[in-house]
Amino acid sequence: MVNREIEIPFNRPSIQGNELAYMMEAVSRGHIAGDGLFTHRCHELLQRILGVQKALLTTSCTHALEMAALLLDIKAGDEVIVPSFTFVSTVNAFVLRGAVPVFADIRPDTLNLDETQLEKLISNRTRVIVPVHYAGVACEMDTIMQIAAHYRVAVVEDNAHGILGKYKGQYLGTFGSLATQSFHETKNFTCGEGGALLISDPELNERAEIIREKGTDRSRFFRGEVDKYTWTDLGSSYLPSDALAGFLLAQLEMRESIQAKRRRLWERYYSQLNDWAMDNQVRLPVIPKEHQQPYHIFDMLLPSLAERQAFIEHLRAYGILSVFHYLPLHKSKMGRRTSGGIIDCPVTEDVSDRIVRLPFFNDMSEKEQRKVIDAVLMYETKASPQYAELSSVFVKQSTVR
Ligand SMILES: Cc1ncc(COP(=O)(O)O)c(C=O)c1O
Repeated sequence: MVNREIEIPFNRPSIQGNELAYMMEAVSRGHIAGDGLFTHRCHELLQRILGVQKALLTTSCTHALEMAALLLDIKAGDEVIVPSFTFVSTVNAFVLRGAVPVFADIRPDTLNLDETQLEKLISNRTRVIVPVHYAGVACEMDTIMQIAAHYRVAVVEDNAHGILGKYKGQYLGTFGSLATQSFHETKNFTCGEGGALLISDPELNERAEIIREKGTDRSRFFRGEVDKYTWTDLGSSYLPSDALAGFLLAQLEMRESIQAKRRRLWERYYSQLNDWAMDNQVRLPVIPKEHQQPYHIFDMLLPSLAERQAFIEHLRAYGILSVFHYLPLHKSKMGRRTSGGIIDCPVTEDVSDRIVRLPFFNDMSEKEQRKVIDAVLMYETKASPQYAELSSVFVKQSTVR
C-alpha cells in the first residue's frame, strides 16, 4: 500500500478556552516578560490543585530538572539512579552537573522504574533517585520513598506526563522533595514549551527562586524585600514569558473538561481494541487498581520489533501517524560514555522495540478516533490465531511434500 498524506496526526494542539484572550491581556497589561500576573495565577492554581507548598513555572520540564540538579548541589561523581526507559532530559540534567547515571530497568507492567531492583543500585555515592511516572501511571512510591529515606537520598519525580495522576489518592509530583512537570505541546495541558518545578521541601524555596532568576535575588527585589538585586548563586533564565503563562492558565482552567474528553478517548481505545489485542497478542496499557491515571498516553506493545514497524507502516498507509519512544538510554552513545559500565536492562530493551503510541489529543473527534480504531482492527499480527492456523496448515503441507 502507498503512503498517504497524514490525515490524523499523532498530536494536535488546540485552543480550549481563554488562551488567546489571556495572551492579549498580558500584552495590554504591558508585561510579557516572566513572573507577571498570569505566572502568579498559574503558581497559585498549581499549588491549590495539587496541594504542593510551592510551584514555579519554568521554560520546560528539562529546565525544571536542571534546576533540581542545581538545587540539590549535584557534583562530579555523584550518582543518580534513573530508569533507562525515559526521555534524555531526565538524566542529562544531572549529567550536566557531572553526575554519573546509574540506569535501572523497568517493570514489565507499568513500564516504570523497577523498585525491586533499586536497592542493589544504591552505593555510598548515590545522591538522587528519579522515578519517572510513565504515561502518568504512578511508580511504586511507597517502596521508593522508604528506600530513599533509609539511604538518605533525595527523590526528584520526573512527572512530565503525570499531572493530575494519583498514587493511592495522593497527587503525583508531591512525593519527592522536588518534582518536575512538562507543558510541552504533546502534554494534556500546554503552552507550546513549558514546565514547572514543584517543591515540597520549603527549605529549597529561596534558592529555587534565585536559580530560576539567573542566580540573583531579583524575585525578592520585585516583592520589595530588598532594595537592589545582585548575583548570589549559580543560576540561569528558567522563567517563561507571561504571555505563555496566560496560554497555560487557560488550559489549566479547563482541566475538568480536557480530562473528561481524554478519558472518553482513552476508554474507547481500550474497550474497542481489547479483543483485537488478545487475538493478536498485543498488550494494552496496564493501570494498577490503586493508581489514578491522567489519560496522557495510549500505548501498546506489539509482539516484536518487526511487527511494531509493520504496524506503524500500516497505519501510515491509512494516513495515520503513530510513534514510538524511548530508545534505551543505557545503550546510547552518551549513556555508555557517562555510566561507564555494561548495564543490563532487558525489559527496557524489549519494550523499546515493541512499543507504539496511538494518536491521542484533546480535540480528537470521534470520527478521527473511529478511523484510527478501524485501521488498527484491520491489522493482523503474525501472532494472531488466524495466522497461527494458516502457518500450521503451511507447515503440514510442507511436511507432506
Ligand atoms: C519523561 C520525560 N521527562 C522530561 C521530558 C522533557 O520535557 P520538556 O519537553 O518539557 O522539556 C519529557 C518530554 O516529553 C519526558 O517524556
